[in-house]
Amino acid sequence: MMLLTCFTTFALVGLLAAAPTSNNDDDLLITTEFFIKDFVKYQADHDIVQILVPLNSLNFNEDDSSSSESKESDTEIIIFFVEADVQPDGSYIDQGLYVLKEGKAKKLLDNGRDAAASGDSSRKVFFGAKDGLYVYNPATNSAEKYGTIIDSIIGIAKEKEGDVIYILTEGREVYKVSDNGEKKELLDDVVKAKQIVLDYENNLYFYGDDGKPYVRTTEGVKRVEGLPEVSGKVTLVKPPIFLENGVPYIASNKVYLLYANGTSQRTHMEFQHDGLPTAFAPETALIQYYAHDKKIYEYNILALLISTVLEDISDYLNQKANEIRTIASNHESLKRKIKT
Ligand SMILES: *[C@@H]1O[C@H](CO)[C@@H](O)[C@H](O)[C@H]1NC(C)=O
Repeated sequence: MMLLTCFTTFALVGLLAAAPTSNNDDDLLITTEFFIKDFVKYQADHDIVQILVPLNSLNFNEDDSSSSESKESDTEIIIFFVEADVQPDGSYIDQGLYVLKEGKAKKLLDNGRDAAASGDSSRKVFFGAKDGLYVYNPATNSAEKYGTIIDSIIGIAKEKEGDVIYILTEGREVYKVSDNGEKKELLDDVVKAKQIVLDYENNLYFYGDDGKPYVRTTEGVKRVEGLPEVSGKVTLVKPPIFLENGVPYIASNKVYLLYANGTSQRTHMEFQHDGLPTAFAPETALIQYYAHDKKIYEYNILALLISTVLEDISDYLNQKANEIRTIASNHESLKRKIKT
């Protein structure tokens, strides 16, 4: 069974979040204390501005649940990340795209800016760079040119299955790329996007200069409603696996969920200003990665349930213990990789 075929959409979200209620006691404020030394997975020399955890067979192979022979099952999760120097005006100076595999980081591209992977049984991971698209070669642990696109790319997103990739260019145009990277088609209804993210039903979320989010579905583009006026930085986050038709969105340090039907929901999570990560990777839900202060932190959600290291988070997670264990039992290959 494919990793992405059996989700229940209950309302755990984003980082470790939960469904909105009117009860403020359930709120979780993430402060810098959340970033503890024990969880540091990687220390960089620059800011970490993107993290990707591929949900496909590069990391998780749901077919091998009965055998312990699988090569993947006993190795660690492979992640990809992008380093940059963030300038006072918010722009980036590229410092390379890396793979982190078996504890070793290797730079794959000097000017790589974003990574995306399918959620199917392929092992493909794609990179957007200053000079076009690249694909990961797991055998040589390196990046190879993909297709004929030569645009300067700042963001990329991959449909769950098949070969369709969306690229956001430095000129802030979004293209749909297909035919093994040979064909590109301008999405003229996505105007001046600053960031793009796909959900697992291939709806595209984006925002422009005013930070207001939109969703593009098969029915066209619509504004996501129900959000307060935003000021300052906003972020779209790649959704955790159980969220099929929505993505997390952070504005004024508060976490919201945006849905493909154009509605939104406030969650219980909020970041203290200094506690806002510079990159988010909650994709697998059970093991999540966040970057802060030039470091990548790894959070093992099953371990946190029974740990006293971060009590606020454990208390919070324990309210969702049943849902978390349901995710774990629905995703055997994921659970096998996560040592508790
Ligand atoms: C929009 O979608 C969300 C998530 O699927 C759902 O919970 C909500 O009820 C929907 N709202 C409307 C008005 O259809």
